[in-house]
Parts: sequence; structure tokens; C-alpha cells
Amino acid sequence: MPLSTETIIKIKEAIDIVDVIGDYVQLKKKGQNWWALSPFTNEKTPSFSVSPTKGIFKDFSSGKGGDAISFVMEMDGLNYPEALKVLAKKYGIEIEEIDSDEERQQASERESLHIVTGFANKYFKEHLENSDEGKSVGQSYLKERGFLKKTIEEFELGMAASEWDGLFKALDSGQYNLEFAEKAGLIIKKEERTYDRFRNRLIFPIHNLSGKVVGFGGRIFKEEKNQPKYLNSPESPIYHKGSILYGLYQSKQPIREKDECILVEGYTDVLSFHQAGIRNAVASSGTALTSDQIRLIGRFSKNITLLYDGDEAGLNAAARGLNLILEEGLNPSIVVFPEKMDPDGFLREKGFEETQKILDLKKDFIDFLSERLLGGAGDDPVKRTAAVREVVKSISKVPDQIKKNFYFKRCSEKFGIEESLLISEHNKIKFAERKYRDVRPQKPQDLGKQSPEKGVDIEKLLAPREAELLKIMILFGNDEVQDHGRLARYILKNIEEVEFSHPSYSRLLEFYQGIDEQSQYPELEDFFNDEALSEFKATVIDITSEKYEVSPHWKAHQIHIPTLEEILGDKLPTDIFRLKWMKLKALIKDNQLQIKKLWEEHNENTYDEVMKLMRQQKDLKKKEKQIAKLLGNVISA
Ligand code: UTP
Ligand code: MN
Repeated sequence: MPLSTETIIKIKEAIDIVDVIGDYVQLKKKGQNWWALSPFTNEKTPSFSVSPTKGIFKDFSSGKGGDAISFVMEMDGLNYPEALKVLAKKYGIEIEEIDSDEERQQASERESLHIVTGFANKYFKEHLENSDEGKSVGQSYLKERGFLKKTIEEFELGMAASEWDGLFKALDSGQYNLEFAEKAGLIIKKEERTYDRFRNRLIFPIHNLSGKVVGFGGRIFKEEKNQPKYLNSPESPIYHKGSILYGLYQSKQPIREKDECILVEGYTDVLSFHQAGIRNAVASSGTALTSDQIRLIGRFSKNITLLYDGDEAGLNAAARGLNLILEEGLNPSIVVFPEKMDPDGFLREKGFEETQKILDLKKDFIDFLSERLLGGAGDDPVKRTAAVREVVKSISKVPDQIKKNFYFKRCSEKFGIEESLLISEHNKIKFAERKYRDVRPQKPQDLGKQSPEKGVDIEKLLAPREAELLKIMILFGNDEVQDHGRLARYILKNIEEVEFSHPSYSRLLEFYQGIDEQSQYPELEDFFNDEALSEFKATVIDITSEKYEVSPHWKAHQIHIPTLEEILGDKLPTDIFRLKWMKLKALIKDNQLQIKKLWEEHNENTYDEVMKLMRQQKDLKKKEKQIAKLLGNVISA
């Protein structure tokens, strides 16, 4: 629910950035500013600075920067309103929300669900700790598996009673709302009977990022026929399996510190790893890894290490997972465990050092895929070709052009194949894919089906490109580039005749166009700080957030003035051309619809108009061909 404007103003007035950031890192004053070791990278000399007068922070090692609110968003993995709420709490500001009835209802439903799951969590913990069966069954099971008190407490393990309705009775007598208990999947109502979903099981509560319990996994104590080993909470408005990771709440800080997230399969693997001091492990618990989960991890680190069994199913799951990770722009590595052993079992049997040794053998995806696919293939050319194609297919998922180039290089070395061949293979794959996407030119007979008024949804297609160009201008606009002057100027010159289709991007572009050649472009901080720029703030946060990743190479040249190629590879020119090209394609499509419509009306008044449009069409197509040709010489994305 949105906060009232008054509340937001109160929070902003209360914020003291040194105080806020001081809750997370140890700041030391030096001159005007405060300094600390970067909380985003693993560095030895402080390059993280806070300016109390400007109300902003800047992290020179990761390039991140912003105000107190964006810092809390970043550190706690929260969105804007969530971060505001955290700060309101810190400063004891009462929150006033404005909302529609519908929103109010949804929020109060979630709130009610949290209340019952919170109660259930307490009930399960209490039962494990104090009841007779908790001690004799639950605690002795955990002891046998070697889980220590501190682990049990940190992960808030519990136990569901063996009776049919232990939790139900507790909820009922505590006058909790049973409708919500049912919706949260804690109790099941069948005709006349109401009973607990979880009975006689070890309980693993599942926390969301702010530490609230949203669901449970329950493990059976002794394997039984016709009983699943694990029972999980069903989906509910507060629990979406595909967008939650078991253990992330406990792991988020270690993941950030180590700049790596280890992904294991099960609840107990997470527990064992944590207990052994490998605290950056999470599990996707019972579901195949999803893009949502990857993006969630991406808020804390871009490096994901997948741990899988060495059996065929495990290897296939690893291959699938790594493609998804590449697609999201993150960096996958893979550790294959010796067959038929999960990380928890391995750790228990072989100990910490052996486990660490295996973890250290992690492979990047090119090594993993090529070894797996080449296996016994030796010099068999057919198998080699298939393997190369598979690796290129994975590379084709990588959104970042510079990373892509790097992988082509690695792949070329690995297989002893020229890069240009890999790239041409890659372009074939991309071309085939494009045929199935909406960018493809439509056949004339399909055009009629679309209403001309509606036109083409080009905004969706173009917005990410537009954002990317704006992001470069925001972050590096003032950087001098050899032979081209300032980077923002160069970009603006190259897209002179292009209008942006996304309304807020278009406004920001106009603002940039309005800055005269002599003046400085604003720095990122200015957008947060300068009242005059406040209308762009939300857009700038959106654009500079991780969604549109900019390669870290771009800021690496501080000493000599780099050439465009050096900082950008061929990414920027490609982006510009592609934006122009897509724009032209959209124009051509619109034009075609127009022509078709007029042609159908078919009278002497429309004839001239049609001829005019057709001449235009010819020009547009000629331009499009020229650009397509230019684009053809670079890698498709
Ligand atoms: P495993 O069978 O590997 O279980 O399933 P585990 O985590 O190693 O548990 P222990 O060590 O035998 O106690 C891996 C994960 O798959 C999900 C659970 O999330 C489990 O942690 N799973 C498994 C289910 O959801 N339901 C099941 O019946 C089995
Ligand atoms: Mn196990």
C-alpha cells in the first residue's frame, strides 16, 4: 500500500544518512565525508563514501550510489516502499497509508496470513523444545543428524505434533481466524472434520526476505510407504514457491560478502552448510529453479554456484539451471558432487575440508558443458560439432555483449575453433529464434488482422534499448572519449532523429538534448539530490537498477583517454543501430497497415495518399536495408 505523502515527507526529513548507513557498516570520518569498506564487494581499503551534506553514498568499488533509501533497498533487498517502512520504524514515525479498498483488503489478507503462520511457527518451535514427544522424537532425530542448537535456533526448526489437530486446537482456542489458517494451508477442512496438514513431522519454516515466516516444509521422521518424505505448504497469497528460496533470509549477508551464492537442493543441505560455516547456501526446495529466484539472488550477488549430483538427472538439471542463469545476466558455475551423495551427506561423511576441496573445483559453464558433452567423444567430428553448438546456444542467452565476447573467446580456445565461426553459428541460432518472436516482419495477409488504430506494441520492444542508452548517459555521460568528445554528446548526436517511445524515457532524453554542449551533464547523485531534477528520480532509479546491466569494464579506464572501442566494444554502436532499425521496422509496419486500410476504402480521394505512403515506404525500406547491413556485421543480441 502506498504511504501518504505526509508520511514520506516525515521519513525523508528524519533521515540522517550517516546514521542510517552506520547501522550497516562501520563509518569513519575523513574530511567532509565518511568512509567504510564497501559492503558490496570484498575489499581491503575503504572506497565506500558517504556525503552527509549531499545525503548520498558512493561506492567506488562497485559503482553503486544513491541516497539513504536506495542504500536500504540495496542492502535489505527491498523495494522503495518497503525501504521507507524500515526507515519509518527506525525513526519511530507512524505510518499512514493511502489505498484503494481493494489494496487495503489484499494487504490485510496478507497481514492476517502472516499472523497465523507466525503463530504456527511459534507453536511448532515450542512443541519441539518443550513437549515430551518433541524431546523424545524431534530433538533426538536432530541430534542423530548432527544438527546443533544454534542451527536449530537460527533456522527456527520446529515439530508438528503427532495428534490430528494439535495446531488446530491451539489456533482455535487462541481465537485465531481459521479461514486464514486454512488459506495458509495449516489446517484442512473436510466436511465435518478439521485437522492439521502437518502431523508428526520435523518443521522447516520458510522465511521471506524480511524474515517473516510464509510457509513450511515438514519432514517425516521415519520413511513410510504412501507418505511423501516432505510435505510443503501450498501456494498462498504470501507464499509463491517459484519466487522464494529456502535460507535466503539467513544467507543474504554472507552471499553479499562472499559475492557468491551456492545453490543446493534440499533443506538439510542448507542447514549442514551453514553449520559448517559455508553460510552462503540456499535451496530452491522442491521446485525447479525459476527466473524469479535467480533475480532474487541477483540482488545480492551475480555469481551463482550450482551444486548437483553427478547422476544424469542432476546433470540435466544443472544444464537447465545454467541457461536460465545466463539468460538473467548472472554468472553460473557448477560443482558436481560424486554420484548419489547430497551435500549434507558428503559433508557428514567426508568432513569440511574434503567438501571445501570439491567446492573449489567449481567449473564455469563452458568447461562444464564441454566436458559433459565431449565426454568420450574424442575427435569424433560429429559429436564435437554438436557440443560446440550446444555451448554457443548457452552463450546466446547472455544479454551482455561484452560478456558474450569474452565467452566466445573462451569457447574458441577450448574447442580450437575460430571465433568468427562461433559467431556465425550464434547468429544462426538468434535468427532462428527471431522468426518466432514478434519482431519478425509480418506477412501481408496477417496484417489485416491487426486493427490499424492499435498499431504495434513497439514501446515494449524498444523500452529496454532506450533504457540502456540512457543508463550509459547517466553513468558515463561526462566521460571523454577519444575523437568523440563526451560520451553523452556522442550518443545524442547518433540518435538525433530518433524519438523514444517510452514516455518517461522520452522526457529524460529531451532533458539531455536540452543541455548545451558546453555544460556538464548531471552525475547520478545529482538526480537524487537536486530538486530541479526530482521529476526524473524515479526513472533514473529504475534505469540504473540492475535490470539493465552495464558492463563493469566501462569505468576501468581512469588514466588514459580510452577509445570508444576500448570502453564499449561494439556494444554501443550496435545498440544505436538496433534502436534505429527497430524503430524503422515499426514505422514500416504502421505504414503498411495504413496503406492497406486506405487501399480497401479504394476511392479517388485516397489514391494520392496511398501513392505518397508507398513512396515513403520505399524510402523507409531502403534505410532499413542499410542499417540491417551494418547490423549484419556485428553480433546479434
Ligand atoms: P531430498 O530427498 O534430497 O531430501 O529432496 P533432503 O533435503 O536431502 O532431505 P534429507 O537429507 O533426506 O532429510 C530435496 C528437496 O526436495 C524437496 C525438499 O525441498 C527437499 O529438501 N522434496 C523432496 C519435497 O518437496 N518433497 C519430497 O517428498 C521430497
Ligand atoms: Mn539429504
